[in-house]
Amino acid sequence: RKLGVVGIPISKGQRRNGTEKGPQTLRDGGLLERLRKFGCEITDHGDVTLDCIDDDIPYGNVKNPRNIAMGSLRAADVVEKCLRTEGRCLAIGGDHSMAIGTIMGHARVQPDMVVLWIDAHADINTPLTSDSGNMHGMPLAFVAEELAPFVPPLPGWEGIQPCIKVEQIAWIGLRDVDPGERKIIEKFGMSAFSMHDVDNNGIKGILKKALDAVDPSGTKPIHVSFDVDAMDPTHTPSTGTPVGGGLSVREMCFIAEELALTGRLTMLDIAEVNPNIGDPKDVSHTVSSTIDVATHFFGHRRQGFVPAN
Ligand code: ARG
Ligand code: MN
Ligand code: MN
Ligand code: MN
Repeated sequence: RKLGVVGIPISKGQRRNGTEKGPQTLRDGGLLERLRKFGCEITDHGDVTLDCIDDDIPYGNVKNPRNIAMGSLRAADVVEKCLRTEGRCLAIGGDHSMAIGTIMGHARVQPDMVVLWIDAHADINTPLTSDSGNMHGMPLAFVAEELAPFVPPLPGWEGIQPCIKVEQIAWIGLRDVDPGERKIIEKFGMSAFSMHDVDNNGIKGILKKALDAVDPSGTKPIHVSFDVDAMDPTHTPSTGTPVGGGLSVREMCFIAEELALTGRLTMLDIAEVNPNIGDPKDVSHTVSSTIDVATHFFGHRRQGFVPAN
């Protein structure tokens, strides 16, 4: 089956350098070769070009608004093209602000798609609720229609409109949610499953609840936005905002295999791999856990398989 790949080397959504090297790091780690082994016919669209906009003065405490807007529009165009040609897209980041563009691009092609946000964090701060001012903690606030009244117009954002509804979003893996984010989740009755829920129901139960919440009919295209900090930092230490008590490789592989089996996974984001964090062993561990999980989203099964030839 066809799969288009796009690198989104964005890092201005947070403060640490290094996530711009995420796409290269995962490519060097053999991501595409591994996917080919599991039957993916890959077209690599390369990395999105991000020009640096200088003098990107903060809006309130929000950092780099113009750069993130430009990157999001570029990413949206490439993701759209990729989905129209290959039908499926893997976007490799990049910090999690990458998902503004991938969700916009995906929604242009499949407006009824649903988003599973797998993350320790909710990433639904608005520019007004965010303490950090880092835009990787805000992507969902920009794509969800219902949040628009609470999002001030940022410089450079004129061409960006929300493209999905809050009911199209569900989270899995949460364990570090800011008070303002919790307020948004409750106000809109959003489907947010934390590690508490995973402990309570098991990963199978929670994945089912999340899918039932966003797509009771079981027919919609699925967008998975996977922040590698969703996994426990023992597996993915090289990431900017690690939080203990996360998903195991085993739980992530279960999610990935189940979603692959639906046949409806049209888009996967991989966000927040940062090779500047930790020692070389941490980086290679992060890369191998991430690649292992990624292969399971696209056909690798732990039960084994017989290659075609
Ligand atoms: N909630 C915090 C913030 O708004 C942390 C966000 C972390 N996001 C991420 N994509 N790693 O800054
Ligand atoms: Mn996160
Ligand atoms: Mn995130
Ligand atoms: Mn494996």
